[in-house]
Amino acid sequence: MKNDIEKVLLTEEELKEKVREIGSKISEDYRGEELVLIGVLKGSVMFMSELMKEISIYCSMDFMAVSSYGNGSESSGVVRILKDLDESIENKHVIIIEDIIDSGITLEYLIKYLNGRNPKSIEIACLLNKKDRRKANIGVKYLGFDVPDYFLVGYGLDFAERYRNLPYIGILKESIYK
Ligand code: IMP
Ligand code: MG
Repeated sequence: MKNDIEKVLLTEEELKEKVREIGSKISEDYRGEELVLIGVLKGSVMFMSELMKEISIYCSMDFMAVSSYGNGSESSGVVRILKDLDESIENKHVIIIEDIIDSGITLEYLIKYLNGRNPKSIEIACLLNKKDRRKANIGVKYLGFDVPDYFLVGYGLDFAERYRNLPYIGILKESIYK
């Protein structure tokens, strides 16, 4: 698996440090409130579980699954809901947890969709941001790192369901996906 990686972009230590930072910021911002973290399956699982351990206030977790990519490396621009929330978010503070924003189409759609359920507030925490590729205009309150436009894998991010178990973020060799 390691032979498929061109370069390590973010090490385990760098990720851990940043996740700790975001967790303590969230704990301060929502002090005295109760929070629902909504993970977007499957890419956010690693980030979400690490982040949750760094949050010191009451919070619950729920998940949604959407598809916009299939098994390719380019967004299709079409968002489909594969799994919806288990619990109501009405009148609750919500943070959507994502692994990476590329075009922003997935998150734009999710925010609109979840706003229809009348949460008390809704924000985004996203580990990685491909700024130069943005098509939709969305505000991300908690952001890990701006990253260059390479195909990235590891720490939850996949290519065709592989590489999620790498403990770091790496640039995938072009020969693997071209
Ligand atoms: P968007 O709707 O174009 O913003 O796409 C966001 C989703 O595409 C993310 O949740 C990822 O699942 C996937 N994605 C975008 N860029 C990458 C990448 O570099 N590696 C792996 N998945 C990616
Ligand atoms: Mg995703």
